[in-house]
Amino acid sequence: MDSHIFVIFGASGDLATRKLIPAFFKLYQGGYLPEKFALLGVSRTDLSDDDFRTQVVTNSQFLPQDADPDALRNFAKLLYYQPIDTAVEADYAKVKTRLQELDDRHGTPGNYIFYLSTPPKLYETVPAYLSAQGLNESKGRFRRLVIEKPFGYDGESARQLNMHLLRFFLEDQIYRIDHYLGKETVQNLLVTRFANGIYEPLWNRNYIHHVQITSAENIGVQNRGGYYNESGALRDMIQNHLLQIVAHIAMEPPVSSDSKAIRNEKLKLFQSLRPILPEEMDKYVIRGQYTSSNIKEERAQGYREEKGVPTDSRTETYVAMKFFIDNWRWSDVPFYLRTGKRMPTKVTEVVITFKPSPQRLFRSEETFNNPYNQLIIRIQPHEGLALRFGMKVPGQGFKVKDVDMDFHYADLTDAEVPEAYERLILDCMRGDGTLYSLGESVEAAWKFVDPILDAWEANETKLFGYPAGTWGPKEAENLFTNGSAWRNPCKNLTNMSDFCEL
Ligand code: BG6
Repeated sequence: MDSHIFVIFGASGDLATRKLIPAFFKLYQGGYLPEKFALLGVSRTDLSDDDFRTQVVTNSQFLPQDADPDALRNFAKLLYYQPIDTAVEADYAKVKTRLQELDDRHGTPGNYIFYLSTPPKLYETVPAYLSAQGLNESKGRFRRLVIEKPFGYDGESARQLNMHLLRFFLEDQIYRIDHYLGKETVQNLLVTRFANGIYEPLWNRNYIHHVQITSAENIGVQNRGGYYNESGALRDMIQNHLLQIVAHIAMEPPVSSDSKAIRNEKLKLFQSLRPILPEEMDKYVIRGQYTSSNIKEERAQGYREEKGVPTDSRTETYVAMKFFIDNWRWSDVPFYLRTGKRMPTKVTEVVITFKPSPQRLFRSEETFNNPYNQLIIRIQPHEGLALRFGMKVPGQGFKVKDVDMDFHYADLTDAEVPEAYERLILDCMRGDGTLYSLGESVEAAWKFVDPILDAWEANETKLFGYPAGTWGPKEAENLFTNGSAWRNPCKNLTNMSDFCEL
């Protein structure tokens, strides 16, 4: 990998402290950083290099507590800090000078990666001011720009942002990050589908009854009320993370495993999502907001009581929806998607429900919970896969019971599975954009989401309350009209017995 300097804008913020610096430390420990390397934190807060090192390394609770003190010390030596007013163009000269100094000190050849971990309002400013200093120019070296979500506030702002960025950086210099794509299990969706012969022949409207994706969180909005209230679950989770999972589940096989081929197939998939019409909104999309309740005998506050949230907020903390994909493979197959804060447990999973056998020979003796075979793909936690099907209960007659055949990711390796950010940062350092989103794809995903936002904006649809700690508004059950229902997962992947950990 080429030597370079990695610059984090917003370096004293939450994301840098919690996720980015710990990811760099893991990469450092694993020997993945280039031989010549430095990390420059840039932010408004007035810190010295040493203050920064103390804040994000020495005093950080997000680095492994049992890490070798020498390793931590040596890692910290690679970190530097430059305070600037990020909104002032002239201050970017300080960044340039500092980078030149660090190039001299570390022997790096002027390759820079700029990571924007700032409030989104700076996504236009920083690239423009970097380019004013010539820091975007990649003649014989690389200059890359990583942009965190949210990428735009709606389709139009995403388009504007793309156009703006393209004035200063080329598409292949821009890395739009979605940390779900860095999750091993999300990548494994592609391997499950395309490295095996048994799934793909069944992976279509002829055999699949419906697909459901649940991404639940038990936490509330914590200290992010201000951000979240402007965003809501649809922008925060669905437009990016969950539509990416949909793309991995539903895209056509790419012609090769290279970045372009995979990203093109995903783009095609986003373009095939059928937008929900205003008159169908109530039928297909349910939005909810958590209300106060008692969880395990403790009072849980409602969303409107959270810090930074107006008491009359109509922001959704929960969305459940049904939609269709208009292409040959998926015509008429319903997709169900739901996500929410303050649900009973933290879990993300995909459930592929297959059509039942055409003739139910043993119907009278079935003790199936449901007659459909299901493939449950667990994204997190208890990462793994379970295939549910009917087996004969030993003994008289033909009693059929559903059983799970399961595989757990933990059985595959003793090594720690890399965190999403580790993988994504490493890919960007190597110049591999496969797990990053194309500008066009982000816009196509917004195109699907925009009509829903418009309907909500016009206040034309209901907002349902659900008590904190539950699976969301009951109305979400009515999305199913064909006898199926949501699978309410436990923390453990297979829950055939009575044991269900939440
Ligand atoms: C973030 C959202 O992008 O993803 C958060 O802004 C959410 O609201 C988080 O909690 C979920 O990520 P993970 O990796 O914990 O499932």
